[in-house]
Amino acid sequence: MTHQVSTVITGIGELATNDPARTEQGGLLGLVSDAAVVLEGSRVAWVGASADAPAADVQVDAGGRAVVPGFVDSHSHLVFAGDRSAEFEARMTGQPYTAGGIRTTVARTRAATDEQLTAHVARLVAEMRAQGTTTVEIKSGYGLSVHDEARSLAVARQFTDETTFLGAHVVPAGTAPEEYVDLVTGPMLAAAAPHARWIDVFCEDGAFDVDQARAILAAGSDSGLRGRLHANQLTYGGGVRLACELGLVAVDHCTFLSDDDVAALASSGTIATLLPGVEFSTRQPYPDARRLLDAGVRVALASDCNPGSCFTSSMALCIALAVREMRMSPAEALHAATAGGAAALDRDDVGVLAPGTSADLVLLDAPSYVHLAYRPGVPLVAGVWQAGRPAL
Ligand code: NIG
Ligand code: FE
Repeated sequence: MTHQVSTVITGIGELATNDPARTEQGGLLGLVSDAAVVLEGSRVAWVGASADAPAADVQVDAGGRAVVPGFVDSHSHLVFAGDRSAEFEARMTGQPYTAGGIRTTVARTRAATDEQLTAHVARLVAEMRAQGTTTVEIKSGYGLSVHDEARSLAVARQFTDETTFLGAHVVPAGTAPEEYVDLVTGPMLAAAAPHARWIDVFCEDGAFDVDQARAILAAGSDSGLRGRLHANQLTYGGGVRLACELGLVAVDHCTFLSDDDVAALASSGTIATLLPGVEFSTRQPYPDARRLLDAGVRVALASDCNPGSCFTSSMALCIALAVREMRMSPAEALHAATAGGAAALDRDDVGVLAPGTSADLVLLDAPSYVHLAYRPGVPLVAGVWQAGRPAL
């Protein structure tokens, strides 16, 4: 057997584990103070008191600083070309956000080479990693042709296993909606499915309605893809209830929710993924996280990094917004950005630091995770380990 390099990080002032076995003493985040973690190969091998830490090949002294699980960003659209800063500027001076801007990015993305798209995704993934994101989901959705959706996913696949086919983002210019749904559920799905784990639909006025979303998710399921939805971002509608009825793992945005939507989320166990960077960047009202949490809904936080509605890759910003604007506690927000994101991807190997999980950790230049919200905009990431290797 080849020797696996081990690393011990000692002197961790505050370790957030998210380990359910530690919540009795350590609260929601399973906090351990004066802690140490041992990484062996790509996995966490040991978690405990710093004074009891075993020896390892490499020793790192955290010097009393905090360590948290790597962020799990369960919603991003990184495969695109061009930017829409002019649209953002117009929005900040009074224009509303509409889904129509997506078509601008589609034209730019189609015109880009595979190499240009790959280099751009690589840059954004590196930007995310430097800010503590160690797992990212990446959607297609700016190709909207058989060829461009398949190549978008092939590009995304080079960076993550969590790839999502979003051919049903909007209907491309010049195509009839029924014709486009047939394309998405037929040849486009066939070309995309080998590169994707998930299928997603933008279920919203101006994009796809509930019946279309249902048909697209059913076709995806027949091809072995698991469903997720963009829903209730811009208006009230049936998307969230559809996600709950179908038992989807997650439904994302959840900005405009009726009491029935909240009840459906609470009883189905479908995770509500909130994307506060979108509301920040579109001047929409923030989703009511408190209402969801108080109703017993499981909540995740993700960036939605995309060139239109929200061009941030910072999970720390999402945490700060969730705390300041959505009345989540700092612990709830960190949990939602780590274990919550993992649950939204149906993963139990990330988002938690316990023996056997993926060794994805962030060392903060701060004594406590609370600083993620307390010091908004400040780059607090002092170290990142991804699958046991230093990544920063
Ligand atoms: O998640 N809502 C749909 N899709 C993206 C926005 C895409 C864009 O504006 O380019 C979102 O917000
Ligand atoms: Fe999105």
